[in-house]
Amino acid sequence: MRYNSLPWDRPGRYILVKDRETGFYHSLSWAPTLDRPYQRYECAHGQGYTRITTECQGLKGVLTYFVPRTATAEVWRVALTNTSAAPRTLEIYAFVELLMGNALNDLINQPNDKHFPEVAFDDEHLCLVASRRYWVLNRGVTVKQPNVDWPYRLYFTNSLPLTGFDGSLDAFIGRWRSEANPIAVTTGRMGGTEITAGDPIAALQSMVTLEPQATQEFVVVMALAPKTAGVPEFLQDRGHLVPWSDRQLQELTAYWDRYLRALVVTTPDRDVNRSLSIWNPYQAAVTFEMARNSGYYHGGLLFGTGLRDRFQDILGVLIAAPERVRPRLRDALRYQFADGSTLHNFFRLTGSGEKTNHSDTPLWIPFGVMAYLKETADLDFLQETVPFYDGGESTVGDRLRRALDYSLGQLGPNGLPRIHKGDWNDTLDYIGPEGHGETVWGACFLAYILRETFPLWAWLQEEATLQRYQTAYTQLQQAVNERCWDGEWYLRAFRDDGSAVGSHRDRQGQLFLNAQSWAILAGIAPPARAQQAIAACRERLLTPYGMQIVAPAYREVEPNTGLISRCVPGKKENGAVFNHASSWFVLAALTAGETELAWEVYRRMLPANSAQDRDRYEVEPYVFAEYVTSPEHPTQGQASHSWLTGTAVWMLRIGVDGFLGLQPELDGLRLAPRLPAAWPEVAVQRRFRGKTLQVQIRGSGPVSAFTVNGERVAGNLLRVTDFVDEVLTVTVGP
Ligand code: GLC
Repeated sequence: MRYNSLPWDRPGRYILVKDRETGFYHSLSWAPTLDRPYQRYECAHGQGYTRITTECQGLKGVLTYFVPRTATAEVWRVALTNTSAAPRTLEIYAFVELLMGNALNDLINQPNDKHFPEVAFDDEHLCLVASRRYWVLNRGVTVKQPNVDWPYRLYFTNSLPLTGFDGSLDAFIGRWRSEANPIAVTTGRMGGTEITAGDPIAALQSMVTLEPQATQEFVVVMALAPKTAGVPEFLQDRGHLVPWSDRQLQELTAYWDRYLRALVVTTPDRDVNRSLSIWNPYQAAVTFEMARNSGYYHGGLLFGTGLRDRFQDILGVLIAAPERVRPRLRDALRYQFADGSTLHNFFRLTGSGEKTNHSDTPLWIPFGVMAYLKETADLDFLQETVPFYDGGESTVGDRLRRALDYSLGQLGPNGLPRIHKGDWNDTLDYIGPEGHGETVWGACFLAYILRETFPLWAWLQEEATLQRYQTAYTQLQQAVNERCWDGEWYLRAFRDDGSAVGSHRDRQGQLFLNAQSWAILAGIAPPARAQQAIAACRERLLTPYGMQIVAPAYREVEPNTGLISRCVPGKKENGAVFNHASSWFVLAALTAGETELAWEVYRRMLPANSAQDRDRYEVEPYVFAEYVTSPEHPTQGQASHSWLTGTAVWMLRIGVDGFLGLQPELDGLRLAPRLPAAWPEVAVQRRFRGKTLQVQIRGSGPVSAFTVNGERVAGNLLRVTDFVDEVLTVTVGP
């Protein structure tokens, strides 16, 4: 599979069906035979599968693609129906181009890379078997050639009887042709090619005869197994492949049904319900699994897994599967150094990565660990030992302190963290190359994280630590309020030479959203300033899709600010509606008591709303994208970088913890709903510490008492351990 093969959107996983009598053929997924007279095309995405239905020339195809939970395989399940009045004799072609090993290497060194694949037909198991004799594990370009085998075999078969195969792309497609008109399909003759070098594919031919209204069910399977393991068991019994695949699909959908039952939200708004109960948790689960490793935007190939992303992505699965988070945190902690600093990103296969010196990265450790502790109260975790990246080991609890102390050791001339290579905003990367530049957002973020840990030190009775961090918090608060207030909003940063970034005095890049949101989230902004900053954001940054990350966008390059100014105005960090940052503003507005504004922004950001003009929006309208182009660019409303964005977990948690007000704390669940006026009443089912909570919330405002299974409880803290029942019915409000 090649990345970025736009606008072709090729190659793909194709099933071509050809009528033997007329020679007419078409694809069951539309592409690549786009010009055929299709009467119907429908593509439905569900949790874990995609189903494409087509009707063309008297044939109806229902093609379901999925990856089973428990088998390392990709399944293409097909039901093909003859809707015409005459019997049909059909040739079926299943085709996929193979990339085994290293996608980056394939892109930059394909002529050399093609000396190592091999594809052969296995007569005994009736499948194509493909592999490689050489695996480039390292990224980038180097003359060093690793001496490593790709340790897998790929198996490709169709449950139908096979009448031909090809392993060579050249042979199957033929000269001057493409996937839309392969020579093998046009002539009906497969080459029977097996290759030991060249461009590997797996293509299989089968024959089917269908009476009118008859349906043929079949399944194409592409499986992967270690070379040491041999042919996977499920491929050894071809007669049962169809029922096997049906069972796999059932298990897959049952898995997601179970997973999604952990959180069921019922508000008067259908889009919110669908988002918070289905698509948002699903997207969050995908970001947890994939990090930024796939998709054609975020180069997992280039950058691997980002540590800051890693510690945020856990927020999504904490509600449904907290047990999956602990090992994930342990693993990520391995990339911390003994001095508290961290790699910025890592590659899972090699364990290598880069130390880029982004100022915020170490702080996401306490952020993630605190989120886990608040969900689970699993304080034993703090005693576990984890190795440092540079040798030695220490406990998880100690890791939190090291990350905080490292960051506190990086304060610059104004008492704010030095920005070094950037902060959360990767494109503010040339503000402090000499090591003096400072980040205002970073100061707020550090203060926020410090404050997040206060309850932990109090709980552990570590008085000295608590006091030290409280003092540091107060100093940051003073520094930000004394040196970083621009008159109507907070500045964003200071350069090496001490000049400010994000001031009304600048011609561009005047108002940065994140500095305002986090001054509020950290409790740094006094109420009057919070209101002023929010008003400035509302006036200058609110768009139909959410909040713009900065305005006015940079039109001239500022080498001493960074890549942000090289991006076109209105896109990416240069003034797009950067959803991740926009979500933080929603939380800040909620925190400042601006519930209606928060709701308005949240509502606009929901894919159902921001993607209303689908053709403009361009990407999947059911998940959050990293950004939506703002009115500062002619393509406003166009979105990019869908799926793999921190927006997913934040929108989920802002929905549940923010608006619905179910906030995990070390000693229980704090009930602090902030419902917009449009929601007089809501119901939530949420799993928490092994129990199922069924919460009814009526009205908004501070909670002074609530009921649990009919019993009145004073205050607003639900201590689940006080109750023996598995299911707790909680009522909040009159
Ligand atoms: C991308 C990166 C993320 C970064 C953000 C803002 O989404 O994955 O780590 O914080 O851009 O620059």
